[in-house]
Amino acid sequence: MTEHSNLAQIGVVGLAVMGSNLARNFARKGHTVALYNRSFSKTQDLMDNHGSEGNFIPAETIEDFVASLEKPRRAIIMVQAGAATDAVINQLADAMEEGDIIIDGGNALYTDTVRREKEIAERGLNFVGAGISGGEEGALNGPSIMPGGPAKSWEALGPLLESIAAEVDGTACVTHIGPDGAGHFVKMVHNGIEYADMQVIGEAYQLLRYGAGMNPAEIADVFRTWNEGDLDSYLIEITAEVLSQVDAETGVPLIDLIVDSAGQKGTGRWTVKAALDLGIPVTGIGEAVFARALSGARAQREAAIGNLPSGELSSLDALGVDRETFVEDVRRALYASKLVAYAQGFDEIKAGSDEHGWNVDPRDLATIWRGGCIIRAKFLNRIREAYDANPELATLLLDPYFKSELASLIDSWRRVVIVATQIGQPIPVFASSLSYYDSLRAKRLPAALIQGQRDFFGAHTYGRVDKEGAFHTLWSGDRTEIQV
Ligand code: ATR
Repeated sequence: MTEHSNLAQIGVVGLAVMGSNLARNFARKGHTVALYNRSFSKTQDLMDNHGSEGNFIPAETIEDFVASLEKPRRAIIMVQAGAATDAVINQLADAMEEGDIIIDGGNALYTDTVRREKEIAERGLNFVGAGISGGEEGALNGPSIMPGGPAKSWEALGPLLESIAAEVDGTACVTHIGPDGAGHFVKMVHNGIEYADMQVIGEAYQLLRYGAGMNPAEIADVFRTWNEGDLDSYLIEITAEVLSQVDAETGVPLIDLIVDSAGQKGTGRWTVKAALDLGIPVTGIGEAVFARALSGARAQREAAIGNLPSGELSSLDALGVDRETFVEDVRRALYASKLVAYAQGFDEIKAGSDEHGWNVDPRDLATIWRGGCIIRAKFLNRIREAYDANPELATLLLDPYFKSELASLIDSWRRVVIVATQIGQPIPVFASSLSYYDSLRAKRLPAALIQGQRDFFGAHTYGRVDKEGAFHTLWSGDRTEIQV
């Protein structure tokens, strides 16, 4: 064997679940993979359990790891976000040489990625922050990958990432998203959309369960049917699986035994924080993040359950709502709310891209999110088509196809929001998405009044619909208007 063939094309640092699965994915695709983990036991476990799946070069020190990589060296870091990632980046940078590429495949905050890229570039190395979606299963069998960083590193990295990414219609679910933090930003918003997507499914479940009185198995069947239509997606598919699961010990549907407090690791929250800074309303994602927070407020909830006045509540029967019609209405409300959440997510990506000069192409995202990632859905093909037809769309909702969909969804959506309110079931994303939609299409918004109030108490001035310029009314004087 030549010296060259003893070297690895790619290295993985951090061999917990995601890192090991990614390393195995590379090896199964025929690449030689260098391995390093702070504690060697994880490296050893991987070799013992999966060493036969391909060519691995395990290393006990970061120096040996770096020495085992072909140039330009390419190392993917899969360790905890934050301080651990910084520590590993520094160790790698110390051992690497000019032109080598450090890839952070974790869920880093994009502003950290921007900072790291700058620091690493000053040392003559390339830094690529890459969002990787798909969970454990995706890492092993084909994730959706969103790499940022310098365009020139994509040349050395692209084919490797393409070989392990998910594939849809012959297209790999990976592409260079844009410079520095673009990849992690887009991955962050992807996760935010995922929060909203999961929440709208949750709201549909809530209504069918506690509004229509269906049992989990019946609802699982409904979701299976929905998965054959416009809502065909990974999340709808796994929802049916979760709802079908029966606890072996008690014979009770598992869903009824799971504590109803949702966890979160932070990417949804980041998405909302970034949106606030960019001034982009991502109400669907925001409500989804808050819904998880509320679910976790155990003490407040325990104090409130059965203890707050509900007002007079109705039921589907009392309202004369036929179950079959209601189920279809709920499907449509879910679809419409999901559409709003995606439209808002794409708005945030555009705003982030404009702010940072990333030049992110929304068509790329609709393409690479079709497979591998958690929000993979048939629906993304439609988003791709929408941006193909008009890359400058003011909002996805105005795409002719989605507009025609909305025309057939809107009446159901309104009915569901009304009925849910009458039966007292929470639907934060369904309801706020409808308000967002009505706000967008409203001829006049109460913002005029807010401007009046602001001018009254703070002389903040207002614009007029009939004249150019800024105006102020002398509220505490004779109430004449002056132009300022
Ligand atoms: P996952 O979510 O996939 O389980 P994680 O919790 O994000 O993984 O990251 C865990 C990985 O980060 C482990 O490989 C861990 O190394 P150890 O096995 O030695 O604990 C690695 N890690 C955490 N902190 C680290 C640090 N300061 N330096 C190097 N690696 C670190």
